[in-house]
Amino acid sequence: MQQDDKTAGQQPVRQYESAFEWIGGEPAVQALVDRFYDLMDLEPCYRELRASHGPALDDARQKLCWFLCGWLGGPDHYVSRFGHPRLKMRHMPFSIGILERDQWLACMDQAMAETGVPGALRVQLQKSFFNTADWMRNRAGA
Ligand code: HEM
Repeated sequence: MQQDDKTAGQQPVRQYESAFEWIGGEPAVQALVDRFYDLMDLEPCYRELRASHGPALDDARQKLCWFLCGWLGGPDHYVSRFGHPRLKMRHMPFSIGILERDQWLACMDQAMAETGVPGALRVQLQKSFFNTADWMRNRAGA
């Protein structure tokens, strides 16, 4: 993917090879995922999403970071360890309706805002995350 990042004034246009590069590489993905799970733990508005996870979030934190690195066009840490993600199948043990989907998306969007994901990239990722999260629904309705 190639994206232009036109900063204020007469800064040169910067081209990014991937969303992974644009976001700031692995440290930025790690910061995003850490904030995502911290928010899930802290904010009452993500209560049902938090409840769908087990008591500890360490495993999920590590796996989501590895997965997103590859999903954003960076190193495929997840696939090299676990093979094809088969995300829908791996989420079948958890009941995912519109409520959980929307809490996941809102939590991720808050984490993107708070960790300084560039605005244009954030808008692009909102759409991609929506498509993936919506496809993961396995319970009809809310
Ligand atoms: C739609 C709402 C979602 C819910 C309720 C949900 C919930 C969960 C839960 C409960 C786990 C297990 C965590 C653990 O092992 O302790 C998990 C794992 C995971 N989730 Fe989600 N998730 C959602 C959406 C997403 C999306 C949109 C992505 C990717 C963009 C994603 C990526 C992952 C990955 C990579 C794992 C680790 C899978 C594994 O190897 O076990 N999830 N999710």
